[in-house]
Amino acid sequence: MAAYEYETHEYDVVVVGAGGAGLRATLGMAEQGLKTACVTKVFPTRSHTVAAQGGIAASLGNMGPDNWKWHMYDTIKGSDWLGDMDAMEYLAREAPKAVYELEHYGVPFSRTEEGKIYQRPFGGHTTEFGEGPPVQRTCAAADRTGHAILHTLYGQSLKNNAEFYIEYFAIDLIMSDEGVCQGVVCWKLDDGTLHVFNAKMVVLATGGYGRAYYNCTSAHTCTGDGAGMVVRAGLPLQDMEFVQFHPTGIFGPGMLITEGARGEGGYLTNSEGERFMERYAPTYKDLASRDVVSRCMTIEIREGRGVGPNKDHIHLNLSHLPPETLAERLPGISESARIFAGVDLTKEPIPVLPTVHYNMGGIPTNYWGEVMSPTDKEPNKVVPGLMAVGEAGCASVHGANRLGSNSLIDLVVFGRAAAIRAGEVVDADAANPDLNQASVDAALARFDGLRYADGNIETADLRLEMQQTMQDDAAVFRTDESLAAGVAKMTKVAAKISDLKVTDRSLVWNTDLMETLELTNLMPSALATIHGAEARKESRGAHAHEDYPDRDDKNWRVHTIAKVEGNKVDLTYRPVVTDPLTNEAEGGIELKKIAPKARVY
Ligand code: FUM
Repeated sequence: MAAYEYETHEYDVVVVGAGGAGLRATLGMAEQGLKTACVTKVFPTRSHTVAAQGGIAASLGNMGPDNWKWHMYDTIKGSDWLGDMDAMEYLAREAPKAVYELEHYGVPFSRTEEGKIYQRPFGGHTTEFGEGPPVQRTCAAADRTGHAILHTLYGQSLKNNAEFYIEYFAIDLIMSDEGVCQGVVCWKLDDGTLHVFNAKMVVLATGGYGRAYYNCTSAHTCTGDGAGMVVRAGLPLQDMEFVQFHPTGIFGPGMLITEGARGEGGYLTNSEGERFMERYAPTYKDLASRDVVSRCMTIEIREGRGVGPNKDHIHLNLSHLPPETLAERLPGISESARIFAGVDLTKEPIPVLPTVHYNMGGIPTNYWGEVMSPTDKEPNKVVPGLMAVGEAGCASVHGANRLGSNSLIDLVVFGRAAAIRAGEVVDADAANPDLNQASVDAALARFDGLRYADGNIETADLRLEMQQTMQDDAAVFRTDESLAAGVAKMTKVAAKISDLKVTDRSLVWNTDLMETLELTNLMPSALATIHGAEARKESRGAHAHEDYPDRDDKNWRVHTIAKVEGNKVDLTYRPVVTDPLTNEAEGGIELKKIAPKARVY
């Protein structure tokens, strides 16, 4: 192995990732005076949150009656009763506070006539515990809400003296022999130097792993880097079988067309020009939750009512809306439709298809963002020194299906919660941990092994095999047959990782090596997804199993805990948290009594 020198940096907290969750955590830590570094492989304002369009859910009630208990109920129902009640209560209750904080930090929200934050309808968000009409709960900055939030949080973090290490790739966590996280080993992409960050708390905010699939709305940077590091530290992942397909990715390239388009009055049609969602979801129609809409679109296509020469996609219609509304509320997608679909949406429908968009599963945490390593005896066992927030984490607030606009609110509520908790458990006056040299050396040895990998398969080829397998066999609809085939194929694909070939041996801007490191992060997530899906013999949320079409609460209202080692996956299960934090009542409904029932929209 080559000899690697490295520079050591000491911080109270190191946040890995600079999307919405990473920046909100960084800001919260720095505001409290904790010495905070944010390490990120892309420039902060290029993180994937920049692509979030439609908005951020919070029951502000600016456009009509709303309250956080209705938001909590919708989130529970959206999760298909797999979310943890404590986390879902925390999310819905804290959401208004977190949004007003954003407003005060400077996020340029769109406004109502009276100057209040503008809110639009989004799928699955309702009133009266799912019995009333749709609610306008999604706070928006036109259709560039993530962009606005990201820029504001980055500016505020700088103002509060957070230190940024930009274009640093995190290789692996540093773990003590006792299982305490002590920091992270990084590679600086632009000059090839290596860096060891020694910290009392590491926060993983590395986003999802959409790029395990061939077609997704996720940026190329969404490679599950946090999950990969956690797996290599011997820790588990949770509920990975639940992968969200967004109903409206642009047919072909997959770019997102926000659900806000349907929130503003857009609707889907099939080859007969029929607004088919009225048949499947008579009450909420095109604003049913995403898993439901994606399945209905897929059924329409399967039954021969898709549009286009091959009848393989669906139309999203917006041309009936006033051009001023489109220009004011949806300028971003007007541009995307023109550039990526060649469509003028004031005149023609946009060709769309359900497209991989979000990972409900991730690194298991409690609602403070502390990473958990559940065992039978200790289902809530915390890993000291390690947190995970945002799409990388699984609190579990989205359960089996996330509602649109509950992602941005998850990022800021739980980024903020992690900072509050770190303020309690991190002692700024204490010395930093003595680093476990063996753990640092192991990270460097892995890096070196990949740098000089001299096998037979190019990284891009193996990545494509993985992506095609996941696309084919862990799709919107799944069967015993497709999942068994997927497990067999993914087991073989993952075994080939030891036969990779890296051709560029340099250390400066070596994208061959970076993509190889990313592939080693994607692979365990892909494996955990297909194994978790194959084992789950029911349908729930985004996991639509054709051989088991019903939800089975008796046997399967449990979280999947997946330990991945090489190409093997070991599954165990952990109970869902069924007690909310409080037992407040609203309209005669007590939070504790919200029990599973049929999920119709
Ligand atoms: O449709 C959208 O604007 C996406 C929002 C989300 O995933 O929450």
